[in-house]
Amino acid sequence: MSFSIAIDGPAGAGKSTIARKAAKNLSFIYVDTGAMYRAMGLYFLRQGISPEDSEKIEEACEQIQVSITYENGEQQVLLNGENVSKEIRREEVGNMASKTSANSKVREKLVALQRELAEKENVVMDGRDIGTQVLPHATVKIYLTASSRERAKRRYLELKEKGMEADLDEIEADIKERDHRDMTREISPLRQAEDAVLIDASFMNIEQVTQAVLQAFEEKRR
Ligand code: DC
Repeated sequence: MSFSIAIDGPAGAGKSTIARKAAKNLSFIYVDTGAMYRAMGLYFLRQGISPEDSEKIEEACEQIQVSITYENGEQQVLLNGENVSKEIRREEVGNMASKTSANSKVREKLVALQRELAEKENVVMDGRDIGTQVLPHATVKIYLTASSRERAKRRYLELKEKGMEADLDEIEADIKERDHRDMTREISPLRQAEDAVLIDASFMNIEQVTQAVLQAFEEKRR
């Protein structure tokens, strides 16, 4: 039987940084499920499909193949064979992913892929519904969150570091809008699983959060 660590939480809480570090520490595979929703979102964007047009989205699902490979330990996402790992990081793609991930066809497709990966390997998987839907029997479930202001500040600093223009209030408003959408959708909304360990990272650094995750895993594994 393989081990799995499920990490869910809102956008910008640091899930991917923590999941990557925990995976490295345990020699597990890191699976970024948001990247899969982004890859599908990118396809819809490129095709000019409106996120409201569920019929077109469902038709398009038949044309999309998302797959995952690893290069030097880093997850790469392929959209119909094309490596789109960089392009999917755009803000526009994230927002499209947030909107279209509410579609049940989109979710069915990706949940199947995610479960397949977790069956074969020991994984640290992050997303919105990993503990509640994808891996209900995960070895340990973490709900990682931080205040919207704190999450906005981190995103602001990231953008500034890249030399990009950024407005803190605008970023926070965007984060709140995305939280609302991810938490109130009908299918698999973001919520803390009953048996998840809650970590509020507002006043914790990366190392402290990583240690808390590893400790929770050790406790459950025993
Ligand atoms: O984690 P992220 O920002 O890369 O995710 C992009 C969007 O994809 C997010 O706003 C909601 C959706 N998503 C989802 O519905 N379920 C997941 N397991 C992961 C992401």
